[in-house]
Amino acid sequence: MAATEQTFDSLLTEDRAFPPPAEFAARANANDASIYARADADPEAYWADWSRRLHWFQPWDRVLDWQPPYAKWFVGGKLNAAYNCLDRHVEAGRGSRTALLWEGEPGDTRAYTYSDLHREVGRAANALKQMGVEKGDRVAIYLPMIPEAAIAMLACARIGAAHSVVFGGFSAESLRDRIRDAQAKVLITGDGGYRRGGVVPLKRAADEAVDEEGGCPSIQHVLVVRRHGAEGETVGGAQMKEGRDLWWHDVVEGASPDCPAEAMDSEDLLYILYTSGTTGKPKGIMHTTGGYLTQCLATTNLVFDLKDDDVYWCTADVGWVTGHSYIVYGPLANGATVLMYEGAPDAPDRGRFWKIVQDYGVTIFYTAPTAIRAFMKWGTEWPAKYDLSTLRLLGTVGEPINPEAWIWYHLNIGGGRCPIVDTWWQTETGAMMITPLPGITETVPGSATTPFPGIRADILSLKGECIPTGGGFLAIRRPWPSMLRGIWGDPQRFVDTYWSKWSGETVGSGEDGQPGESVYFPGDGAKRDERGYFWVIGRIDDVLNVAGHRIGTMEVESALVDHPSVAEAAVVGKAHELKGQAVAAFVTLKEGTEATEALKQELTEHVVRKIGAIARPDAILFAGDLPKTRSGKIMRRLLKDIAEGRALGDTTTLADPGVVARLKDEYEARGEG
Ligand code: WTA
Repeated sequence: MAATEQTFDSLLTEDRAFPPPAEFAARANANDASIYARADADPEAYWADWSRRLHWFQPWDRVLDWQPPYAKWFVGGKLNAAYNCLDRHVEAGRGSRTALLWEGEPGDTRAYTYSDLHREVGRAANALKQMGVEKGDRVAIYLPMIPEAAIAMLACARIGAAHSVVFGGFSAESLRDRIRDAQAKVLITGDGGYRRGGVVPLKRAADEAVDEEGGCPSIQHVLVVRRHGAEGETVGGAQMKEGRDLWWHDVVEGASPDCPAEAMDSEDLLYILYTSGTTGKPKGIMHTTGGYLTQCLATTNLVFDLKDDDVYWCTADVGWVTGHSYIVYGPLANGATVLMYEGAPDAPDRGRFWKIVQDYGVTIFYTAPTAIRAFMKWGTEWPAKYDLSTLRLLGTVGEPINPEAWIWYHLNIGGGRCPIVDTWWQTETGAMMITPLPGITETVPGSATTPFPGIRADILSLKGECIPTGGGFLAIRRPWPSMLRGIWGDPQRFVDTYWSKWSGETVGSGEDGQPGESVYFPGDGAKRDERGYFWVIGRIDDVLNVAGHRIGTMEVESALVDHPSVAEAAVVGKAHELKGQAVAAFVTLKEGTEATEALKQELTEHVVRKIGAIARPDAILFAGDLPKTRSGKIMRRLLKDIAEGRALGDTTTLADPGVVARLKDEYEARGEG
């Protein structure tokens, strides 16, 4: 114990770098650093090589058609994502390999081989067809973390319907907005999922979404997985609606497992996934098939160094992009053995994750900094109770990781022997973009290190000048296969949000930029150090990152002003020890309304009801007035200072918080110009 603490402190103060362990590097899928130069010299050839590992019904005839900001990858090719995740392995004689290991929070378990999963996906696909779902339709999925979530996604992919997965923690109203926006024909939900011993009443929320306030006219059927209740009854008093609602076990279990996979165009829509932006309305990020699957395959293979004997566990929920790319598409495209767990890390106690690692012999573990900070707070005694010696690689994603958490993870979970891959990417990028390769990259706690081979990232000033070392705006300079193809129903927002920060002429002053070059703006501030490593500092737009979840300040503000007592609201992020950021709301009340504790409580619940528990404000402050600029823009910087009690200093942020503050100011000032 004492020794560990000593190591912990010295590792922190020495500003140490961690080279890949020699034994790891010797066996690694990528251990030759020349991969970077090769990919950089001819990125199209590099990605084309990866794409050839997939099965194409019809080979593509052109790698890339780039009409900025519109990219088409693997033009003319035809393939199917579900076929590549399942049939390809079964046909190669690997059908008896374990594809999915699942554990429910109450302790129930299931296991599927690739053949099993292939069969179940075929059945679900046929059931969807019987319900009228056709190629090109959208299907909404609102499920707990149960195998049916992955099966439903792959069933959609199999028949060419795009899925739109909505995280089970979102409210009925958020679900309704997303179903309406995508015009989904079918909603797949469950009667409830387990979370910390309780049951999340998903079907009740689904009914509220579909039935109330104008409902969702596009929905023809609701398919309900029975996770909890007995036949005929569902959780929270929700009932099955005759004609509209169908039980999964009635229609899927009886369906034929034979369902031919649709030959989809490389650029056909695979899914829509909603994410928060700077307006009140979430953006339906569109991902297509060939490029997305190629980059998921490549990154999973090299960054997680997958081998046949690995047991890979990503703790994300399938409702987020991490669950899409690194529970379902990336690992299954690689033929991996994936572990999925339904519930909370502290149910029934704080050792649950480590018990799972021990019980299943997990070798690769991917989680979020917010979870690591919680483990840290719970204490080393929990992981110390279990045998974690099977672990050989650790990963993090979702927000900057503070060096303390990195070192703690390295020592207490990784036993000081496992490389850590800190992976930067976004819903929009579809797959990892800046990340170490564990057999090659020397890691430094807190840095996502360098771009993945074939990716070109940069730090630019507001004017578009390249900043070789120092802080600025993160930028991606070249198209990549898994890039978003648009925002569902809002093509202009796609151009404005991501491709309009720098004009062609100014960006030309960069490293190798040519005039007119189109540069992607991810919305993050970052810095580059002397060795060329990237340090992503955080969002510079009005998007918060609360426990690794993106929440738009405008969404929360809209939810607040929707309450009859509220005149105006301004929401800012407040540094939080565990969550990274927490929601702080400044509210001015309507004339004659009394500012009470009870009203604070009511407003908090109102936000939860409108958006979901992830947006629950940590603090609500009643204000007589909100500070504004002359043009009427709320001065969030000032509010943030107040919310964080600025005098205390920003102790939880990994790097100079002033950088983000400065960038935000610069960015906002220009917006007002
Ligand atoms: C942040 C999650 C620092 C970043 C995959 C990004 C990170 C947003 C990292 C995307 C990381 C993600 N280091 N920041 N390794 N990974 N972020 O769309 O601000 O839910 O823009 O995708 O999370 O969040 P999203």
